[in-house]
Amino acid sequence: MRFIPVAIAGISLLPSLNAFYLPGAAPRNYVKGEQVDLFVNALTPMLAGNDDSKLKSLINYDYYNPKFEFCEPKDGPAKQPESLGSILFGDRIFNSPYDIKMLEDNGTCRTLCVATDVTGDEAKFINDRIREDYALNWLIDGLPAAEMKIDTRTKDLFFDMGFNLGNNDGKFENMPALNNHYEVVLRYHKPTPDTYRVVGVLVWPASIGGTQDPTPNCVIDPNLPLILSEDRPQPIRYTYRVTWNESDTPWATRWDNYLHIFDPRIHWFSLINSLVIVVFLCVMVSMILIRSVSRDISRYNAIDLSEDVQEDWGWKLVHGEVFRTPRNPMVLSVMVGNGAQLCAMVGVTLVFALLGFLSPSNRGSLATVMMVCWTFFGGVGGYFSSRVYASLGGMNRRKNAFLTATLFPTIIFVIIFLLNLFLLTAGSSGAVPFGTLLLIIVLWFGISAPLSAIGAYFGSKHGAVAHPVRVNQIPRQIPPSPKYLRPWAAALISGILPFGAAFVELYFVLSSLFASRAYYAFGFLALTAGVVSLTTATVTILFTYFILCAEEYRWHWRAFLIGGGSAFWVIAYGLFYWASRLSLDSLSSVVLYLGYLFLIALLDFLVTGTIGFLASYWAVRRLYSAIRID
Ligand SMILES: *[C@@H]1O[C@H](CO)[C@@H](O)[C@H](O)[C@H]1NC(C)=O
Ligand SMILES: *[C@@H]1O[C@H](CO)[C@@H](O)[C@H](O)[C@H]1NC(C)=O
Repeated sequence: MRFIPVAIAGISLLPSLNAFYLPGAAPRNYVKGEQVDLFVNALTPMLAGNDDSKLKSLINYDYYNPKFEFCEPKDGPAKQPESLGSILFGDRIFNSPYDIKMLEDNGTCRTLCVATDVTGDEAKFINDRIREDYALNWLIDGLPAAEMKIDTRTKDLFFDMGFNLGNNDGKFENMPALNNHYEVVLRYHKPTPDTYRVVGVLVWPASIGGTQDPTPNCVIDPNLPLILSEDRPQPIRYTYRVTWNESDTPWATRWDNYLHIFDPRIHWFSLINSLVIVVFLCVMVSMILIRSVSRDISRYNAIDLSEDVQEDWGWKLVHGEVFRTPRNPMVLSVMVGNGAQLCAMVGVTLVFALLGFLSPSNRGSLATVMMVCWTFFGGVGGYFSSRVYASLGGMNRRKNAFLTATLFPTIIFVIIFLLNLFLLTAGSSGAVPFGTLLLIIVLWFGISAPLSAIGAYFGSKHGAVAHPVRVNQIPRQIPPSPKYLRPWAAALISGILPFGAAFVELYFVLSSLFASRAYYAFGFLALTAGVVSLTTATVTILFTYFILCAEEYRWHWRAFLIGGGSAFWVIAYGLFYWASRLSLDSLSSVVLYLGYLFLIALLDFLVTGTIGFLASYWAVRRLYSAIRID
C-alpha cells in the first residue's frame, strides 16, 4: 500500500502541469512588425466535406514537388527540423516566401509570384490532385492553417485542418479549378500591451481566373475561376491577403477549436458497448470458472479421499500433459517476448497521452514516444521471452535471446522498407528519408537489441516458472475435439468479443491514420484498451478451460492464437473500411493501405496473443495446483 501516497502526490501535481510548458509548447510572443513565418507541409489527400465522401489516395506530395510549380523562397526551399515521429507520419516541413509581419499590411492584396509556363503535363498533374481532393497544409507558429466549418449535428464552429488545393464541383465542363488566392485570417491575442500571440490561422482559398499578370487582384468572381488547360503552357498568379483579427482566445486554449470531437455520443456509445461486453463476460466467466471449476476440484479431491475406483474425467485427465513442451517453443516464446514489449509500449504511451504530454502542438510526439518506449522496453521483451522459453522446456537460450532481439524488428523493418520503395516509385514525399531509416536501425539494433539481451540474461537467471504437476513420460491419445474448439474456429469465435469492444474506436484510429484527422480522444482509447485486454484475457482463459475439458492438452499455441483472434477481425474490418470509406485509384495507394493494415493487424495479434497466452498460463497453473494428484 506504500504506493498510494505516491499516487496521490502524483495526482496533486497534475494541475500545476498547466503552468509548465513542454519543450516546443512555450508561447511565442511577437512584437508589432515582427516576421511571422509561414511553413508549408506536404500535401495530403483529405475527405471532402460531406459525410459519405471517400478518401481517394493515401500518398503525400512535397509542397515543392516541381510539378506543382508553387512559389519558392528566394534562396530555394529550406527543410525545417522535425522529430522522428513527425517524419515517420509524413510531415515534410519547408519554409515559404510568404511575407507576413505581425499586424502589418492588414487587408492588403499582394502577389506572391507568377509561375510562368506551367506546362500541360504539370497542369494535368495538378488537376488530378484536385480531383483527388488534395489539401494544402500550412503551419504558422505551430498552428495548422484551417478552414472554418460548421458541425452539421451540433451547429458548432470548428477549424478543419488543411484547405483545398482546388475546387472540383464540376461546374466548369467537369474541369477542376485551382485555388490561386488565399484569404488568410490570423487571430491574435494580446496578453499584455505590445505583445501579441498567434491563436488561430484560418484560410479561405479561392480561384481567380482572368489574365494572370503580376498586378495583385483579389476580386473573387465565382463565375471566372482559374481552369488549367492541359494542352498548352500558361502562367499562374498566386495572390494572398492577410487580415489580422483580435481574439479573446488565450494562447493556452488555442488548440481547442481544432480538436473538435465530431460526435462525442459515438465514443460514449462505444464505451458503453464495451462495458456491456465486459460485464457479460465477467458474469459468464465467473459462472463457468467459479462454479464448475470449484465443483470439479472438490469432486476430484473427494474421489481421491474415498479411494473410490471411479474414473477421472475432464481436465484432470490431462494433468500429466498440460505442461508438456509445445511444438516450436522457440517461436512461441519469441512472440510472447515481443508481445510483452509492445504491451509495455502501448501502456506507457497511453499514460503519456492521458497526462496530456502528447499535445498536437508537439508534432509527431505520439509516434516519437512510441518508438522511444519500444526501444527502451527491449529489456522487457528479452526477460519475458527467456522466462517463457525456459518454462516451456527450451534449451537453446542464446538462440532465443538472439531471435527475440532481432526477428520482429527485422520483419517490421523489411515491411517498412518495401512500402517505402512503393512510395518512392509513386513520387510521394511520404517515403521515409534514408537518414531516418538509419536512425531507426540504430534505435532498434543498437539500443533495443542489447537491452533485450540484458533482459534475457535476467530472465534466464530467474529461470522457469515452477509447474504444479509433473509431465508424464508417454503422451496421451487426444480424442477428437468439437469443431468449435479447432484452433482457427476458436480464434475467430473468441476474437469477436475484444473486437466488438473496440471497433468504434478502431474506426477513429483508422480515420486519423489514413484521412489525417487528428485523434485526441485518448481517454476513450485508454479505457477501450483496458477493456480489450480484460476481454482477451477472460475469453482465452475460458477457451483454454474448454480445450482442457475436451482432453486436448496442446493449449499453448491455441491460447496465443485465441488471444490474437481479434487480429483477423481487424483485417476484415480494414477491408470493410476500404470498401466503404476509400476509393483508391492507384496501385501504390492500395499496396500502402494493405501494408499498413497488415502491420496494424500484426501488432494487434502479438499484443492480444501475448495477453491471452500469459493469462491462460496463469490460469492453468492455478487450476492444476488446486487438485491433488497421487
Ligand atoms: C484588419 O482589418 C479588419 C477588416 O478589414 C478589421 O476588422 C481588423 O480589426 C483589422 N485589424 C487590425 C489589427 O487593424
Ligand atoms: C474579423 O473581425 C471582424 C470584426 O470583428 C469580423 O466581422 C470578422 O468576421 C472576423 N473575421 C474572422 C475570419 O474571424
